[in-house]
Amino acid sequence: MRTYDYVIIGSGIAGLYTALLAQRRGTALILTKGSIDDCNTKHAQGGIAAAIGEGDTPDLHFWDTVVAGAGLSNRDTVRILVTEAADRIADLIELGVPFDTIDGEVALAREAAHAMPRILHAGGDATGEHIEVTLGRKVRQSRIEVLEQCLATQIVVEDGEVKGVRALDARTGSMEEFPCQQLVLATGGGGRLFKYTTNSEVATGDGVALAFQAGAEIMDMEFIQFHPTAIRLPGVHPFLISEAVRGEGGLLRNVEGYRFMPDYSPEKELAPRDVVTRSMLYEMQKTGSDRVFLDITHLAPRVITTRFPHIYRFCLDHGLDITKGQIPVAPAAHYMMGGVKTNSWGETNIKGLFAVGETACTGLHGANRLASNSLLEVLVFAKRVVERDIDKFSEDGPGVGELVHCGLPRRDVPPVPLAGSTALQTLMWENVGIIRGGDTLDQAANAIASWEKCLEKPVDRSSYELNSLVLTARLVAEAALIRQESRGAHFRTDFPETSPDWVKHVVLKKG
Ligand code: SIN
Repeated sequence: MRTYDYVIIGSGIAGLYTALLAQRRGTALILTKGSIDDCNTKHAQGGIAAAIGEGDTPDLHFWDTVVAGAGLSNRDTVRILVTEAADRIADLIELGVPFDTIDGEVALAREAAHAMPRILHAGGDATGEHIEVTLGRKVRQSRIEVLEQCLATQIVVEDGEVKGVRALDARTGSMEEFPCQQLVLATGGGGRLFKYTTNSEVATGDGVALAFQAGAEIMDMEFIQFHPTAIRLPGVHPFLISEAVRGEGGLLRNVEGYRFMPDYSPEKELAPRDVVTRSMLYEMQKTGSDRVFLDITHLAPRVITTRFPHIYRFCLDHGLDITKGQIPVAPAAHYMMGGVKTNSWGETNIKGLFAVGETACTGLHGANRLASNSLLEVLVFAKRVVERDIDKFSEDGPGVGELVHCGLPRRDVPPVPLAGSTALQTLMWENVGIIRGGDTLDQAANAIASWEKCLEKPVDRSSYELNSLVLTARLVAEAALIRQESRGAHFRTDFPETSPDWVKHVVLKKG
């Protein structure tokens, strides 16, 4: 059997970009459970943050990131991100990503909690799609091998070191083993844990589940970012309405037409995402509605159609002309701040196992991610995974706070069959969602543990995904129960304050 230098699992920006860099150092194989284009990246609208505008500095970007992280961001990691940002953007431009320009200069948009306009975008609001298409084309032109419809099912670890990965090839139905020196998890997040999510169907927490089963440390799982503005129409997927729409002046109104954000935050519609999300929930409860409205009818129609062509077209296809009518929106699960714990070189606690992108927890985002930092995080840390000194196992830590290390608690509950993912997603939305409480978290963890005991041995993609969802859900619920405070995206009614005792990370590990 051939041993690859790098096997990379996932084909979003994290997988493709890592592979493009890795092929310069050795043989590289991408395994992806769907087709190479099935990923979350292409749904990214807003863009990539980088302090390249006039008057902006890496230091301002540093502080915005640290403030958003609510005391849990690893400052060394943040410093690396903001310092290397401009070079990584230059790399993307060289690869051919067509960022939008104004008068020959890269156009920069504004998003919540950024002190400056610093969001690069492409195709107006189709940034992710442009990146995915550009990187996908480069991969196809390269020596990188790509196996589609190939689902990673088990990380092979011997004597604490990765030896390869097992994967189910859906085309033949056979289980294959791919030996490698370095295995990179780039599988994205777990938005599909929740009833409402902006994520595509591939986001089933696979990387976290695989890594946990292999003995990797999983950190900060309680921090799930809910995006305030996903479209809310009956029977329509919660399509993302980019934060950049509020950056351009979009206003949030309740069903009675009242603009409510000034009542909740001096930053109004551009308050941090968790603040906007909770404010929306309170307004929805107050008015007995399942939605609020995003109003951009005061903007010139040309601004809307050129800056947000994708959103404009999507809404029009669903009978809504957003230049004339308000957009019905509600929060939806969007981003997983936690994941497989890595150091600033992408290394996990298992030799030869790396994680990049949303599946990783580099400690950068802390308790809440600053908008548009995630694509940048991929670029910066993928490069470090490939450029690190292969013979050295680095030892930098999370940089902040103490780590609470735990195994999953044993729950003495009866086995209960889980019919499908919908029951899990509803439970997660209701009990482990935007506003949480100890009792409901405990009920959720018990229910998930009951389902876990009854899960059948997976045989195909959907049963493997269900298993990943259940395990990842359990990690989120248990971590949320352990953290007895409110911080960033984690809000508990029974512990509504942020506590200095909790400037630390929850790390879960098997056993
Ligand atoms: C958005 O366009 O609002 C999403 C950007 C992000 O989540 O970083």
